[in-house]
Amino acid sequence: MEKTSKISGFYKIPPLERLNIVKEYAGLSDEDVANISATGALKYDQLDRMVENVIGTIEVPVGVAVNFLINDKDYLIPMATEEPSVIAAASNAAKMVRDNGGFTTSSTGPVMRGLIQVTNVKDPYGARFAVLSEKEKIMEMANAVDPILVKFGGGCKDVEAYVRQAPSEDILVVHLIVDCRDAMGANAVNTMAETVGPYIEKITGGKVYLRIISNLADKRLMRAKAVFTKESIGGEDVVDGVIKAFEFALADPYRTATHNKGIMNGITAVTLATGNDTRAIEAGAHAYAAITGTYRPLTRYEKNANGDLVATIELPLAVGLVGGATASHPTARANVKITGVKTATELGEIMAAVGLAQNFAAMRALATEGIQRGHMQLHSRNVAIQAGATGDLVDKVAEAMVREKKVRADRAKELLEEFKAGKQ
Ligand code: MEV
Repeated sequence: MEKTSKISGFYKIPPLERLNIVKEYAGLSDEDVANISATGALKYDQLDRMVENVIGTIEVPVGVAVNFLINDKDYLIPMATEEPSVIAAASNAAKMVRDNGGFTTSSTGPVMRGLIQVTNVKDPYGARFAVLSEKEKIMEMANAVDPILVKFGGGCKDVEAYVRQAPSEDILVVHLIVDCRDAMGANAVNTMAETVGPYIEKITGGKVYLRIISNLADKRLMRAKAVFTKESIGGEDVVDGVIKAFEFALADPYRTATHNKGIMNGITAVTLATGNDTRAIEAGAHAYAAITGTYRPLTRYEKNANGDLVATIELPLAVGLVGGATASHPTARANVKITGVKTATELGEIMAAVGLAQNFAAMRALATEGIQRGHMQLHSRNVAIQAGATGDLVDKVAEAMVREKKVRADRAKELLEEFKAGKQ
């Protein structure tokens, strides 16, 4: 029979049968099937309700970053990532700043924007005036659809309106400013935006198209600060080196992207471990980095009067503790428990501290010995295992490859044979 990806009613087929169809189609082995179907904490009936056309799961390691002292409180921070060195680097940076008070954080509160696009308005500024005059009524309508959020002190708190130039016309964009409390907020905000749409049409005489949350969460900013003493990080030269590295990120967008990627190595790992929306966090971070019209680093580095390094970060972090996978995924729930956080804002603030630690660790390594040595040390163990090393031979082969600066599969195999033959 001809192979085709057009499978009607695929979503109605039970997950294991779906997996069997895929097995036949893609020529999977029994081992492949066993790997995809080893679903761990999530059982098939739950998976099938979470996303469509489910066939299984993919595991990602969860590690715990240690040494974090944030606002005088100790935290263990779970991080889900496939990248070696990330968790060690964050823990290491947190250790360096611990004796100098650790991290301090602050934030703006859990406020999101819901956008309503109004087109076909003859007089966009007149329409804007009408919307702002009806602010109270719009907020009332929005809040009526989420009494629970309102009960917890959240809800629509303000309405803003902007005239924007789209290619074919000037459009009016109405922003619902919504305090989402411990929710990420997409559901609440989208429902509110859809609810008030018809009323906005009525008072503007325009046609409403999109009604959707903005991931540029500039009213949900998290900040963290740490002062690394020059002694704790290797001296004055290291302070200067990190500042030079930061200047590079200010000056060249090709560097800025990687600088910010390093920050997100830490932040996305905590986002994933806690079942939050990694794409929302990434979109928000990079959009905020470009909010001035120039793509900028999300961290700042300065030297204080003592010659110590003052590191700060500010970025939007729309994370929640209620709803979504954070509530439904048993491992995410356990990971949130590890953090000990009580509110979504507290989670956001510790994530900012992780991002700062992650970035500092990368900057310090890059400005001194380079990152490859540390990376290679961890990577070398994987290479040794893949070459067939087991038990204490893993470390022996890995160490030998790092010593020789040859972390490669072929060398791992040779070394393994040599160790086994007692030649090393
Ligand atoms: C690698 O995943 C992240 C780094 O490239 C970040 C950076 O260059 O700042 C090390």
